[in-house]
Amino acid sequence: MNPIDLIEAHGGALVNLLVDAERAALLKDMSLNLPDITLNDRQMCDFELLATGAFSPLNGFMTRSDFESVLDRMRLQSGLLWPLPICLDVSETRTRSLEAGQSVALRDPEGFLLAVLHIQDIWPIDHEKECRLSYGTSDPAHPGVQSLQAKAGGYYIGGKTEVLSLPVHYDFRQLRQGPAEVRNIFAKYGWPRVVGFQTRHPLHRPQFEMTIKAMRRARANLLLLPIVGLSRASDFDHYTRVRCYHGVTRHYPPDSYLLNLLPLATHWAGPKEALLHVIIAKNYGCTAFIVGHDHAGPGKDSNGSWYYARGAAHALTAEHAEELGVEIIPFEEMVYLPFEDEFRPANEVPQSSQTISLTGSELRKRLLLGRRIPEWLTFTEVADELMKAYPPPGKQGFTVFLTGLSGAGKSTVARLIYSRFLELGDRPVTLLDGDIVRHNLSSNLSFSKEDRDTNVRRIGFVASEITKNRGIAICAPIAPYASTRSEIRNTIESYGGFIEVHVSTPLAVCEQRDRKGMYAKARAGLIKGFTGVDDPYEEPENPEVRIDTTNLTPNEAAQEILLYLGEKRFI
Ligand code: PPS
Repeated sequence: MNPIDLIEAHGGALVNLLVDAERAALLKDMSLNLPDITLNDRQMCDFELLATGAFSPLNGFMTRSDFESVLDRMRLQSGLLWPLPICLDVSETRTRSLEAGQSVALRDPEGFLLAVLHIQDIWPIDHEKECRLSYGTSDPAHPGVQSLQAKAGGYYIGGKTEVLSLPVHYDFRQLRQGPAEVRNIFAKYGWPRVVGFQTRHPLHRPQFEMTIKAMRRARANLLLLPIVGLSRASDFDHYTRVRCYHGVTRHYPPDSYLLNLLPLATHWAGPKEALLHVIIAKNYGCTAFIVGHDHAGPGKDSNGSWYYARGAAHALTAEHAEELGVEIIPFEEMVYLPFEDEFRPANEVPQSSQTISLTGSELRKRLLLGRRIPEWLTFTEVADELMKAYPPPGKQGFTVFLTGLSGAGKSTVARLIYSRFLELGDRPVTLLDGDIVRHNLSSNLSFSKEDRDTNVRRIGFVASEITKNRGIAICAPIAPYASTRSEIRNTIESYGGFIEVHVSTPLAVCEQRDRKGMYAKARAGLIKGFTGVDDPYEEPENPEVRIDTTNLTPNEAAQEILLYLGEKRFI
């Protein structure tokens, strides 16, 4: 019995898809004879929100009639407001062995049984229609469109879902309460009015001020719901963010807030997504919700225009506030007024006033360049955590990736810079020369295209681990294919520096040197598929450093790399 009246869940009652022990045992037995579907990261997020009731009143992945009704009129078949599809996509091949009326076992990526879905409908994904109606765009740069594109050619399956187990999390378990537990806490603390704030960024002073203003306006306590589902490569990782949140929450009045993580996979659908966030917050027991100025918007499109008009998220959520029974607290971008030493919403600042603001990506750039974070922007606790997690280049790990033809001089230059880094002695250094790797990691691989790619990917994986742990990796494979090199760059750059060095010594010079006598053998047809002779080498278009060793001593060549690293403050 609640001593206070909490807001009703969307649709009237909070859904709980977890079955009791007896039914779970039955379903577990039944699952032995059912086809399996392994959920990917995005589907795991949707599944968890369905299972815990955060997506109430949905009682499983949507059926076709609900899906179409949501796309066409933003309502479930029952007439209840619902802005975006929550569907389970499966490949065409998988669908061939499935039919309506059948049940399937839903498993996590490790094969652990999560639920049994009783299939009601199977229907093909209409990519174009869903993009248009959900996102209002088919721009391939839109992250929601991209994620739908990955499902192209596939099918949706929908139906009632019986849950045996929630996804397992090993991190921050005390902060991962479902809506029912959060509501119990509100009831226990006697919090009838709660304002929800969802974010995928660290909380800086502008957001902190925004939440304080919202709490005063709604005369409410605060539920901080940081999104920890899928994030974008440019987002701060959630471990760092949670440490930052712990730092900021010290600045709220005692017993005024609750911090709880939300395993949501964002769709980036702007206004419609904002509406979904309001519904989720309502299911967690919020009576008010803060809607930001470009809420859940992916920023600007390929032509430089905003995907969603300014204020569109405010307008759509306000239009449905009464129906949902949730107070919408719209917030404009908060800017800092240095003379007044205070934050105000941008739309409340007189034109003559001087203001400063800094976007999330500008902040990240400052961090990576080792620049100071201004005190007006964030609390010391947050700045310290961010600087610890994202150190300046001099303290980051990095990979020097030398690529070029056999005999171009990669190994000699790699050995020289290896010695220089050891002489400097400020970070652990590993040399992953082509021969060393072929001997220790890839002895079973040939020089076919496929095997070369595997070899280079293995090097990239080891180098990314070294870079992540703030060491220096020096790699010197031929790595002849551009797409594999770019794949490795993307992985390593999310952890630290990636310095591609094209050792561009021309084929004629390499062949003339022919230290191992391999070019002669290749020309004589004794070695097949030799790079530069009868297998291609795709030249890097924009390497950080390009060195032709024809007329350079190895020391001079190494010097060029060291000068570049010095200029970028890595050493
Ligand atoms: S790759 O393409 O990146 O996987 O190659 P890598 O691991 O760097 O191995 C290159 C060395 O292997 C010798 N070798 C060949 N190179 C090119 N093509 C063929 N078919 C081939 N077969 C053997 C060659 O001597 C390379 O040595 P380096 O050190 O580059 O001179």
